[in-house]
Amino acid sequence: MIETDITKMFGLKYPIFSAPMGPFFTRDLALAVSEAGGLGVLSNVNIVGTDPVKEHKASMEYMIEHTDKPFGLNILTSRNNPGVRQMVRNLPKIVMGNVRMRDQCKYWLTSAGSSKFLPQSKYFQELRENSEVKHFHVAPAVWLAKKCLDSNVDGIVVTGTEGGGHQSFERVTTLVLLQQMMKAFPDLPKIACGGFATGESLVAALSLGAGAIAMGSRFIASKQSEFHENYKGLIPPGKPQDTGLFTGSFGPIRLYRNEYAESHPAPSTKEEMLAYEQSITPEQQVKDLGSYDRVYDGDVKTGAVLLGQSIGVIDSIEDANDIIEGIMKQAEVVIRRNAAMLK
Ligand SMILES: Cc1cc2nc3c(=O)[nH]c(=O)nc-3n(C[C@H](O)[C@H](O)[C@H](O)COP(=O)(O)O)c2cc1C
Repeated sequence: MIETDITKMFGLKYPIFSAPMGPFFTRDLALAVSEAGGLGVLSNVNIVGTDPVKEHKASMEYMIEHTDKPFGLNILTSRNNPGVRQMVRNLPKIVMGNVRMRDQCKYWLTSAGSSKFLPQSKYFQELRENSEVKHFHVAPAVWLAKKCLDSNVDGIVVTGTEGGGHQSFERVTTLVLLQQMMKAFPDLPKIACGGFATGESLVAALSLGAGAIAMGSRFIASKQSEFHENYKGLIPPGKPQDTGLFTGSFGPIRLYRNEYAESHPAPSTKEEMLAYEQSITPEQQVKDLGSYDRVYDGDVKTGAVLLGQSIGVIDSIEDANDIIEGIMKQAEVVIRRNAAMLK
């Protein structure tokens, strides 16, 4: 049994979260992770032609129908994200109106945009005052974590450059970022993210002041994840260097190297990134989002394949429950081994 500030905050058996992985569905994965004792997160599904409010509502209904455990949801607060205004306005209203959703959907994670956007919603303020709902924001840099504090977040997700998907142009590793965050904000609850896949890495995160880890790539390679078999099939043979930083619709992004990735080179400064964001036309955005649709159908050559360097330590596609139990067992062994070093 490992108890941390985060396991206590959310009433969890284990300090393990699934990371949000929009625009892909992660309904079954979130369910499996929550049922196994971690906390499963519903991704912001914004594939062309979908209504993100409806998708989140349907996913929450699915969750409360199948589990009584806590879970979370992600909202990408980038101004380029279709439906973001409707989500921050309508989702808190929907959750307020359903006791089970209010009690179970406790973890509201915003990312890839402003941390202020959600707490500015009067409906979210009302929900937060009348429930145990917590607001976390993804902070891939210390200056962003400072902004999160100004937004009065309950905690941050500390995501380093080795992680799959959305990234900071600053490219700081999770190892260094966690130390920076610990120095700057020792009391702020933290979830470590980016590069985690083993029990040893969980212990490292806890040692660096995090109260839990969140994993994306490790859970894609699970039986319950809704990803196409071609996507999963890249992971066990994959090496860290098969991924790289490229350009996504919301800034830098870590992708598996393929035709799509190589045609989207990464910006190297914040200015370049902002200029790129402003230059994206609605037509280009639709085209880029279409590359996720292709991946959904198994095209891992010309579609955008988001994966982290952790693929280099993942050698099996397993049941999510076995992944979590295996990590916890290994973490205990490592903690005992470490304690035995003390003489
Ligand atoms: C397929 C995929 C999709 C992602 N989509 C999102 C997203 O919608 N929102 C977000 O905050 N992060 C997103 N990320 C980043 C993850 O939440 C997380 O930071 C990352 O997976 C951690 O690194 P790991 O893959 O090494 O575990 C995505 C990552 C992947 C692999």
